[in-house]
Formats: sequence, structure tokens, C-alpha cells
Amino acid sequence: MKISASLLNADFTALGELVRGLEKAGADMLHIDVMDGNFVPNISIGFPVIQSLKAFTALPLDVHLMVDRPHRYIERFIEAGADTLGFHYEAGSDSGRVIRRIKELGAKPSITVCPSTPVHVLYDHLEAVSQVLIMTVQPGYGGQDFMLPMLGKVEKLRMERERRGLDFEIQVDGGIDSETALPAKRAGADILVVGSALIGAEDMSAAIKALRT
Ligand code: DX5
Ligand code: ZN
Repeated sequence: MKISASLLNADFTALGELVRGLEKAGADMLHIDVMDGNFVPNISIGFPVIQSLKAFTALPLDVHLMVDRPHRYIERFIEAGADTLGFHYEAGSDSGRVIRRIKELGAKPSITVCPSTPVHVLYDHLEAVSQVLIMTVQPGYGGQDFMLPMLGKVEKLRMERERRGLDFEIQVDGGIDSETALPAKRAGADILVVGSALIGAEDMSAAIKALRT
């Protein structure tokens, strides 16, 4: 089980310290939530922070775009340092073209659905992506409650992956803590995005261990 640490609820005056802590604690990657105030009401972080992180850490950067018409920004996010670039199916770009462009530029494409979107809309793209992200909260804010019914989508996706012999990873994002991690894992999640449950923990190594077991 991999852990992608979401920085959304970090104290950004001490971001470097936090990232060193996450490296030591054993996080597998950093999850960076980019919000534009249009696709979601919130506005978060963008290119400069990603650039600084890229120069600072060897942890892979897992960038989650919550941005309208994301095709406009693919080049810039990959240039800034995104290793995985995720975008929303609902965000108004041609998904197939976005995936192809991300791969052309040498990054891993990830496609995401909001809670209200059924997972079968992604089936045409499963061959082409490295990762599928199932949102387990409404995108926009950290610290929300986990939506248990979303695990039905994770199960469906896992079965579809098996049926077709594919190898993309399944990621879940939102409300993951030591309690919700287990059902998410059982449903088929390979990567847990964890924000507040990790960033707020006194002992991040212990928190990651608890999430993994
Ligand atoms: C929500 C973001 C999540 C969020 C996770 O829109 O995509 O990555 O930061 O935070 P927690 O773990 O606090 O739900
Ligand atoms: Zn996210």
C-alpha cells in the first residue's frame, strides 16, 4: 500500500521541514492539490511551489489538478516537476488528448472522477492511464468525511482491471485515516492520499505505519 501525502493542509511557512519529515516517515510520494477557484471554489497552490519542491526532494510529485480545461496547463505542470499529472474527467478537456499529451511529455497520466460521476465513464481510458483516482470526498477542501459508498466504484474498477489484465494503479483521495484505510484497501485501492490524518499527526512515522497495516 503506497501513501501519497497531501500537502493541502500544511503550514506553508514550514513546508521544507514537513517534506523532510515525510521523507523520514516513509511517504511514497507527495500529493499536490492544485485548485483554480473555478472547477472547485477553493484556490490553492501552483507552479512556484511545485518547482521549489522538485528541487528540494526526490519524492515523486503526484499533482492533482482541480482546474477547468486542464489541457491548457499540461506543459507547464510537467515542466514545473509533476511526475504524475492527474486531471478531472469532468473538467471540460478531451480526456484522450490530455492523456496522450501527458505521456508524450514523459509524465504519468492519472484520470479522476468526482463523487457524483460513475466510474464506467473512464473505461475507454483505462488502457492509457497509469493511475485512476477515485475521489472519496467532494474535491475542494481537506479534512472532510470519507464517503464510504465510493468504495463501490473502487471495487468495480478493480474488477474491470482484472478482467482486462491492465496494470494502472487505483488511488483514493479524501477522508483517509487509520480507520478508513482498511476498507479502502480491501476494496482495491493501491495508493492512499492522506492529508489531515498525516500532516496533523504528532508522529508521522507511526501514522504511516498505522495506515499501512
Ligand atoms: C481534496 C483534495 C485532497 C485532500 C485530502 O480536494 O483532493 O487531496 O487534500 O485531504 P484529507 O486527507 O484531509 O481529506
Ligand atoms: Zn487531491
